[in-house]
Amino acid sequence: MAENMVADTLLEVDGIETCYGLSQVLFGLSLSVKSGEMVSLMGRNGMGKTTTIRSIMGLTPARAGSIRFAGSEVRTQPSYRIAQLGVGLVPEGRQIFPNLTVRENLVAAAADRFDSSNPWTLAAIYVMFPRLAERASNMGNQLSGGEQQMLAIGRALMTNPKLLILDEATEGLAPLIREEIWSCLSLLKSRGQSILVVDKNVDHLARICDRHTIIERGKTVWSGTSEELMAEPDLQHKYLGI
Ligand SMILES: Nc1ncnc2c1ncn2[C@@H]1O[C@H](COP(=O)(O)OP(=O)(O)OP(=O)(O)O)[C@@H](O)[C@H]1O
Ligand SMILES: [Mg+2]
Repeated sequence: MAENMVADTLLEVDGIETCYGLSQVLFGLSLSVKSGEMVSLMGRNGMGKTTTIRSIMGLTPARAGSIRFAGSEVRTQPSYRIAQLGVGLVPEGRQIFPNLTVRENLVAAAADRFDSSNPWTLAAIYVMFPRLAERASNMGNQLSGGEQQMLAIGRALMTNPKLLILDEATEGLAPLIREEIWSCLSLLKSRGQSILVVDKNVDHLARICDRHTIIERGKTVWSGTSEELMAEPDLQHKYLGI
């Protein structure tokens, strides 16, 4: 119940099991994000990171376990409801609307559901990503990969989410654009944004995140702080293939 929730735990995923048809992919996966924290979700290809995020969002609902978000059990809630409760997603592959302009993509997402003191606006997104301002009238399908990722982040922020989730934050982007995305995430964290992030760059994640979750074949096999992660190079070798 909401009243019993530890005040500063925003997301608590506990022992979820998720299947695609008859094929089970998550086998009791757990992770948590406290308010204001930035937490990574790491694991080799195909280990279940995207499936974990899809389960949190209600896109591929978990069939067992518990997902508590901001005081509510959401495991069986529809995705629109989970979005309304304040989860903003930057999905793998961006999935922006190709036939809307940059401005339309952003405006279509706008929602200030929690009366934030300082809500995200179109102007604020353009300050963070000047490239998007320059491209405001371009169609989604005319953007570079980096611009698409900026737009996907901007679109998620326009919902003023309590928790921002990024699946493959910098995958497939040019080095300079990657740096820009990491700076943006640092800035968001410094503003107190809670973030759950999937990415393959362990060094960057270790520098920016508070805590880390490593999964292997649909199970959490390790979690800890950045210091703990860097102090155990074996972990990276064993679970991340580095
Ligand atoms: N729609 C689907 N139907 C059936 N199996 C799926 C589906 N999507 C993913 N899987 C399988 O589930 C497992 C986990 O996939 P998932 O996409 O969650 O991994 P991931 O950790 O995000 O991988 P990557 O690093 O490649 O993004 C994989 O074995 C994958 O083949
Ligand atoms: Mg994935």
